Amino acid sequence: MVTDSITADILLKNGLVIDGGGGQAFAADVAIKDDVIVAIGPELMIEAREVVDVTGLVVAPGFIDVHTHDDLICITQPDMTPKISQGVTTVVAGNCGISAPLLRFEDAVAEPFNLLGAREDFAYDTFADYRRAVEAAAPRVNVAALVGHSALRVVAMDDLERPADAAQRARMDALLQDALDEGALGLSSGVFYAPAQAADVAELQGLAHTVAKAGGVYTAHIRDEREGIIEALKEAFEVASTGPAPLILSHHKCAGVRNWGRAAETLGLIDHTRQKQPVYLDCYPYTAGSTIIRPDLADGEIEILINWSEPHPEMGGRTLKSIAEEWGLTEPEAAERLQPGGASYFQMAESDMRAILSHACCMIGSDGLPHDTLPHPRLWGAFPRVLGHYARDLGLMTLEAAVHKMTGLAAQTFRLKDRGRIAVGMKADVTVFDAGTILDLATYEAPTQAARGVAHVFVNGVLAWSDGGPTPQRAGRFLRRAA
Ligand code: ZN
Ligand code: CU
Repeated sequence: MVTDSITADILLKNGLVIDGGGGQAFAADVAIKDDVIVAIGPELMIEAREVVDVTGLVVAPGFIDVHTHDDLICITQPDMTPKISQGVTTVVAGNCGISAPLLRFEDAVAEPFNLLGAREDFAYDTFADYRRAVEAAAPRVNVAALVGHSALRVVAMDDLERPADAAQRARMDALLQDALDEGALGLSSGVFYAPAQAADVAELQGLAHTVAKAGGVYTAHIRDEREGIIEALKEAFEVASTGPAPLILSHHKCAGVRNWGRAAETLGLIDHTRQKQPVYLDCYPYTAGSTIIRPDLADGEIEILINWSEPHPEMGGRTLKSIAEEWGLTEPEAAERLQPGGASYFQMAESDMRAILSHACCMIGSDGLPHDTLPHPRLWGAFPRVLGHYARDLGLMTLEAAVHKMTGLAAQTFRLKDRGRIAVGMKADVTVFDAGTILDLATYEAPTQAARGVAHVFVNGVLAWSDGGPTPQRAGRFLRRAA
C-alpha cells in the first residue's frame, strides 16, 4: 500500500517483513507515525523524519513473552534489559498463580511469591494501584498482567490447607472481578505450589467462569507434570470447560526421567480436547525447568543446579548432588537445608521439548525468573534461541512459524488486539533482527548475557533498543484486556 499523503516519523527501508500471521516473508518498507504502523509496501514513497536502512534484516512484530514473572521487576528495574535485548516488546506477568498485586508480607516473602521480588517491592493493595505503579515506572516494554489464584487465596483465606468455602470463593471472585475491571488479562493458577494445592475443581471453576464472562484467558501451571500428568491435564480441562475462556497450559512439559517420551501422548490428548474447548500451550526452549528449591523434586534421577539459596548463597552455581555429598546428606535433605532458594531442574527430554515447541498451538514463554541471582538462561535467551538455534540451525520450524508463535498467535490468544502483527493500523511494536546471526548467548554458567542479532526494537513507535544497547527513551505501557 502506498500512501504518499502522510509524513511518517520512521521509515524502515528495504527489510524482509515477517508479519506475524504465519505467512511467507516478503520484501517491503514499513512506515511508523506516532505509535502506529501507517504503511507497508515495496519502495514506499513517503517522507519520514528518520529513515532506517534495514537491508538484509527481518522486520517482525515485537515479541510477546506470554509467560513471565516480571510483575515487580518491571517497576524496580524498568530497563527490562533481559527482555528488550531479545526483541521482546510485551510481557505477560502474573503467571503460575503467582502475582504481586494485593499482597504484602510482614516478614519473609512466602514461597513461591519470593520468585517475584523482595518484601518492600510488594506494595500494591489493589490492582489499580499496581497498574498505576507500572505506568509511573514506564518500563522499556509493555506489561500486561494476569491475576494469580494463589495470591487471591492468600488474601481471602486464613487456612490455605483447605478448599475455599462459599464466603471465601465469593471474596476471591470479587477481587478477581475488580482486577478484570481494571484491565487484567485473566486468571492464572498454580495448584502445583503449596498455597493452592488444596484448591479443588469447584473453587477454580468459579473463578475461571468469571474470567470467561469478562472475555479473559485462564493459564494453568498444572498439579503434576511428572507421572500424574494426564490426570493433571484433565483437571485443567475440567476447570476451563464451563466457559469460552481459552485455557493456556503453562510451560507444557513431561518432567522426570520416568516420564520422558510421553509428549506424543500429552499432545494427543490436547489435540483431542481442542475439538471441544480452546486449549493452547506455552513453552521455553530448554530441557531444564526452574523454580524454588523443592526437596520433593530431588528424585536422585535428574540433575539439579542451585541458582540461589538464602541461607547458603555460596552454593549458587553448584549441583545439588555435589552439595549433598559435601554435607554427607541425601539430596532431599540438602535441598531442605538450602531453602528458601531457587534451582534449575534438568528434567525434560530434548525430543519431548521439540515436539511441544513445534506444536501449532504452542506459544513462546520465557518463564524467566528475574529476581534470581543466577537465573536460568531462559530469562535472557528464550526468543533468540527459538529463532536461531531451533528454527534456523536445526530447521525445527520455519522462521515464519517461529515468529508467529511469539507474535500473532500470542496476541490473538491473549486478546491483545492491536499488537502482534505488522499491519497498517497496528501499534508499532517492531523488532528488527538479523536472521543469519540471531542467537542466545546466555548459558547456565553465564546466564545474564544479551543475545546477538537483535538490531533495533521499537516499542509504541519509540526506538527502545539499538545496536546492542538501550536508548534513552522508555515507552512501554500497561496493556489492558481488549473489550
Ligand atoms: Zn509455572
Ligand atoms: Cu512460571
